[in-house]
Amino acid sequence: MDKLAIDGGPKAVPDDLVRVPWPLITEDDVSAVSAALRSNQIWGNAPNVVALEREWADYCGVEHCRGTNGGTAALHMALAGAGVGPGDEVIVPAYSFHSSASCVLHHNAIPVFVDIDFATYTLDPKKIEGKITDKTKAIIGVDLFGLPADWVAINKIAGKHGLVAIEDGCQAHGAAIAGKKTGALADVAAFSLNGSKNLPGAEGGLLVTGNKGIFDNSRILEMAVQIVEGKRVYPAYSFGWNYRMNELSAALTRSRLKHLDELNDARRRNCEFLSAELGRLDGVIPPTVPAGHTHVYHMYKIALDPALGERYGAPMPEIKNGIMFALNSEGVPTTTWVTDLLPRQGIYTALRGYGDGCPWTCPYGSGAKWDYTSEAYPSAQRLVDTTFNVEYFYPPNERGYLEAVVRGFQKVWGYLDVLFS
Ligand SMILES: Cc1ncc(COP(=O)(O)O)c(C=O)c1O
Repeated sequence: MDKLAIDGGPKAVPDDLVRVPWPLITEDDVSAVSAALRSNQIWGNAPNVVALEREWADYCGVEHCRGTNGGTAALHMALAGAGVGPGDEVIVPAYSFHSSASCVLHHNAIPVFVDIDFATYTLDPKKIEGKITDKTKAIIGVDLFGLPADWVAINKIAGKHGLVAIEDGCQAHGAAIAGKKTGALADVAAFSLNGSKNLPGAEGGLLVTGNKGIFDNSRILEMAVQIVEGKRVYPAYSFGWNYRMNELSAALTRSRLKHLDELNDARRRNCEFLSAELGRLDGVIPPTVPAGHTHVYHMYKIALDPALGERYGAPMPEIKNGIMFALNSEGVPTTTWVTDLLPRQGIYTALRGYGDGCPWTCPYGSGAKWDYTSEAYPSAQRLVDTTFNVEYFYPPNERGYLEAVVRGFQKVWGYLDVLFS
């Protein structure tokens, strides 16, 4: 076998093997955005925004959709729609992107963290009920990395306790459970259209719900100026965060939406190939897809079995970093994403929020003494310690490139004893 690239051997994936970064943008997309620009109708509620709202609602299979300027904005609107108020508590997973929990703070409410299920990386329904109090108003589940959370179980718990189920679908456009798409899996859902997402719209977001009451309430945040009976009304009677979507993002999103299913299928094919091949390597755990779930692989993440740490007498983060370094040197780009649990991040450890202890000290809260540092979240910690992303797994990159990636893994695995002994 060739020497490892870190020891001066040839790279398993040569530099001249073409790999194309996401997102895929075509001449049709350029024409769609140019046409929107030329129309000179670039106010909020312009034609592409209105059309996208209808198309996305229909795609998800729900009644209502509102375009926003980001996934974070859509999440915040969902909380307003859910009737979450000052000092209320909202269940969120201990591992996700910051916005999945910061949206709760934006609404002057208190995030309560629950561990994830390690197999799926999504909120562990078994651990939710222990965290529900009489201040709990909602549960935010995240369809992390493109896999829907266990909405059957989460909705059951939400129903039993009279809570609103909020879906953070920002990474899971087009994913599904038993054919029912994200966006329709909870009471209300939020999507991001950031350029990295499966449905890229440069920046932007979409809120969807089948519940008219939630929809109407959510819209209190969207404008500094309200529309009452079709007319702009200036004297303010709500915060008005100005979360409106812009027309150029809507034009791009509509153009990309035509290809969402086809590109998600290609992602799935690529990832299933990687999982079949990499899953043969000792100590590699490919993504789990529960029966009936359709994964759309926003990210392709593999886990390393902690048995590797035991075998080599080293902590798992060290093993992971060593393997990632060797793979990157072989021309197999690997990355990590959010590098710590949400409750370990400064805003929570220092209870920074709005400052002066808000919202945790809000007089409408339970009066509990919040201390996020005192609790362990073993599955979320394991995700941080043992997993990493493989890049360029998405289309238009296909089999030729992925086979080279597999060869890179096989080569590094052939040297694990040398690397760690
Ligand atoms: C899970 C999750 N939630 C929320 C967001 C926030 O979306 P945006 O960046 O559009 O505000 C993101 C974006 O990366 C995300 O990955």
